Amino acid sequence: MTASQSQPHASRYPAGAQAFPHRDLLGIGQLERHEILFLLDEAEQWVDLNRQRQKHSDSLAGLTIINAFFENSTRTLLSFEIAGKRLGADVVNMHAAQSSVKKGETLIDTAITLNAMRADAIVIRHGSSGATGLIADKVDCPVLNAGDGQHEHPTQALLDALALRHALRERGQSGDDFTGLTITICGDILHSRVARSNLLCLQALGATVRLCAPPALMPSGIEAMGAQVFHDFDAALDGANVVMMLRLQTERMSGQFIPSAREYHHLYGLTAARLAKAGEHALVMHPGPMNRGVEIDSDVADMIDRSIITRQVEMGVAIRMACLDVLTRRARGVEGWGEVA
Ligand code: NCD
Repeated sequence: MTASQSQPHASRYPAGAQAFPHRDLLGIGQLERHEILFLLDEAEQWVDLNRQRQKHSDSLAGLTIINAFFENSTRTLLSFEIAGKRLGADVVNMHAAQSSVKKGETLIDTAITLNAMRADAIVIRHGSSGATGLIADKVDCPVLNAGDGQHEHPTQALLDALALRHALRERGQSGDDFTGLTITICGDILHSRVARSNLLCLQALGATVRLCAPPALMPSGIEAMGAQVFHDFDAALDGANVVMMLRLQTERMSGQFIPSAREYHHLYGLTAARLAKAGEHALVMHPGPMNRGVEIDSDVADMIDRSIITRQVEMGVAIRMACLDVLTRRARGVEGWGEVA
């Protein structure tokens, strides 16, 4: 990467705090296109740092970040923890299974407790849509949504955009915005916060988004958000530049949504033969966790020249560092970002 690529492009967004005038990161829906680009550009410096042997910055030294995860997570929790630590913050993980939540404490009481401990940023994952917004209303520090029910997962969409931008640049395409790209997202769209945040983010960056799922796993009225809806995976793949696969979120399903995993794989699984129906050199993405042999075959997931799944994980740390850095600038009194009120 050249130096100019890792520098924020100052001309495409306002200066200082106006570049990102939000205290919290609750969803892509709250963001303007230039705010998304700002976070992506900010992340480039952390991509560079994370590729060094010494991966440390003192930007957030002395700050306390609490990761409050009320739902299971491997990569998102680890990624936020590594991000906070690489920025020099003190990072504490709260697992709901071992917390007073299991003793019946309400979400609001948990929020008040976290606030009293004077966290400087709180990262929340919760099974209920809107829970992170509820907590944000009760605390004095920035809140970052790490996934709330079926609603949004903004840092996942941002890291996906960053991974895609890098992959496109490596192929000699500008990668700066996604105008002209067709991206097919296939899987359990109904229960997926990843699909919702990606639809908003990819469209804001100029892409055409196709959503594909069996009728029972497609939210009704999603066309109103600008998506092209498909139930036939082959048709959804035709000429697509990027294919993003999603897992069946069985933990959110009450009742039977699909006849069997085998039949689902037959109709909606990404096999090498199916991928051939997408555009030439189409890229393959998956937010994880993957169910190999169900929504995606191993040979496709591991295709060196097509799959950017591990790159998505790499970019996750950088984008979370960017979000934690940017959201704490006001409190840290960074020049141009104002003092604490
Ligand atoms: C996603 C999530 O939790 O919404 N995973 C992730 O954050 N990497 C998608 C999923 O669980 O299927």
